Formats: sequence, C-alpha cells, structure tokens
Amino acid sequence: MKFLNYGSVNIDLVFTVDHMVEPGETLSSSSFFRSAGGKGANQSAALAKAGAKVTHAGKIGLDGQFLVDLLSGYGVDTSLIRLYEGATGQALIQLDKHKQNAIVLFGGGNMQIRKEEIDDSLALFSAGDMLVLQNEIVHTSYLIEEAKKRGMQVCLNTAPFDEKILGLPLHLVDLLVVNEIEGAALANSDKGSSFGEVLDALVQAYPASEIVLTAGKGGAYYGYKGIRLHEPIYDLPVVDTTAAGDTFIGFFLTSRSLGHDNQSALRYACKASGLAVSRLGAMGSIPLASEVFS
Ligand code: RIB
Repeated sequence: MKFLNYGSVNIDLVFTVDHMVEPGETLSSSSFFRSAGGKGANQSAALAKAGAKVTHAGKIGLDGQFLVDLLSGYGVDTSLIRLYEGATGQALIQLDKHKQNAIVLFGGGNMQIRKEEIDDSLALFSAGDMLVLQNEIVHTSYLIEEAKKRGMQVCLNTAPFDEKILGLPLHLVDLLVVNEIEGAALANSDKGSSFGEVLDALVQAYPASEIVLTAGKGGAYYGYKGIRLHEPIYDLPVVDTTAAGDTFIGFFLTSRSLGHDNQSALRYACKASGLAVSRLGAMGSIPLASEVFS
C-alpha cells in the first residue's frame, strides 16, 4: 500500500515558558528553538520512519525548504510539495513547566493549496492506496470525495478540531482518528462519559468507519462494528507532548500496512508516541522503527 499524505507543513517556533502568557502580559521565555512541524509533515515523517512508502503533498514558501530536506532524509517522497511566493505555515508554540503546550497557527502555504494541484496529485494514486488527512489545510472535503472516486481509502485525523470538521463528508472516511476531546465533540457525548461510551457512540454514528480514539493517559481505543480494543499508554516521563498524536498515526498505519493486526498496531503506535513525548520537539522527537518494533 502507498500512502499519500496531503497535509500541513509548518515551521514550529517553540518558546519554553513558566506558564501560558495571559492577556496584557509580556512573558520572557527561558529557551527558544525553531524546528520542523505541521501535523501533516509530522505524520509523513512518522510513516516514513516506521517504514512505510509515503508521498507528502502540500505547499511551502522558500523559508520552508529545510523541511523538505528533512522529510526527504527520512525517506518521504517530497515531489508533491509545491512552492509558492509566500510564507510557509508557522506554529507559535508555548511549552510550559507542566509540559503542556498551547499553539497559535498561521496557515501560510497550507491555505494556498489549489484544487488543480489536488487533481494532479491524486492522479498518481489508485485503488488500494490510502490518503491521509488532518485539519490544517484547505479543500479537505474535495480531497475526501475525489480520493473515494478513485477507490482510495481515506484516513482522517480530526485535529485540530474546529467547526469545519462537522461540515466534512465523514461518512466517506474509512479510518477516523480522534483524541478524547474531538471524539466527545463528534459523538455529542454527555460530560462525564467514559472513553468506552464515546467510542460506542462514534461507532454508531459512523458505522462504515473504523474508529481510533486516543485518550492521553488513558491509552488508545479501536472500534469497528462489534470489535472493541484497548491498549494502555507506554509510560515514560513526559518532556513535550507535541506531535504525540502524529507519531501514533504514522506508526498505527504503517503497522497495519506491514500486516500487523489492530491490537499490535495499537501497541506499536502507543510505544512510538510514548517515546516521542519523552523527547523535545515535533518531527525530531519521532522514534525510528528499530526503537519501536522490538
Ligand atoms: O501536532 C503537532 C503540530 O501541530 C506541530 O508540529 C505544529 O506545527 C502544529 O501543526
């Protein structure tokens, strides 16, 4: 199976702070670094590091060339990352002393993707291939519909969650990956519902889709028709949770494409994301296959 990831490519500007800045406050950060990120690009990096054949499609400005070089170095086919005369997506990330983050996004090139480019990219893929999507680019509905016309499978990660998600043709999605907050919002669950209840509600609401629910410290859940699976987290000291979900998705998809069953795929994905959160940064924190498949 070949993966086409149509997704965001961002430059992450990371400020480590005591607490999240408040209205009217000027806050000094104790350290700063600029690194490679974007949910889409992180997921492509995770797919490639895990051993999958993945092509990343998206759009960057000249300032993002180092991201393309990094992705190529991991083995991602970057031939569908297009260049435009503007800025690459930017993510301003505050990382506080509790290892929590808060992110402000500027879409940049991610918002400049055109439908003709999508057509040209999808034409290179066919039935049996999988399109991987997140919610940081434009034309997501179009991508889902056109990929399904080609017989491709579609995996959608509903992050970051906003009202746009509710307008997508979610009934066409083969694999829906949500975190606990996104899952509860999509399932319209009562406050206080258990993860299992949220999963049941999602399986009922999207009967044609496989559902993966990541639940932070609660581990990860899988649901499809009558099947329910759970895997606990791979518990390591937390340094930075940025890209944990992206890492999970890359390793879950790759594991399945390598022939592992869903329970094993959850286990490898939990291990990979556990390792990622024990390290600083986004793309750079994603482990190698040799660290996970052992
Ligand atoms: O999922 C983590 C990513 O979200 C960061 O790398 C940042 O770019 C934002 O898109």
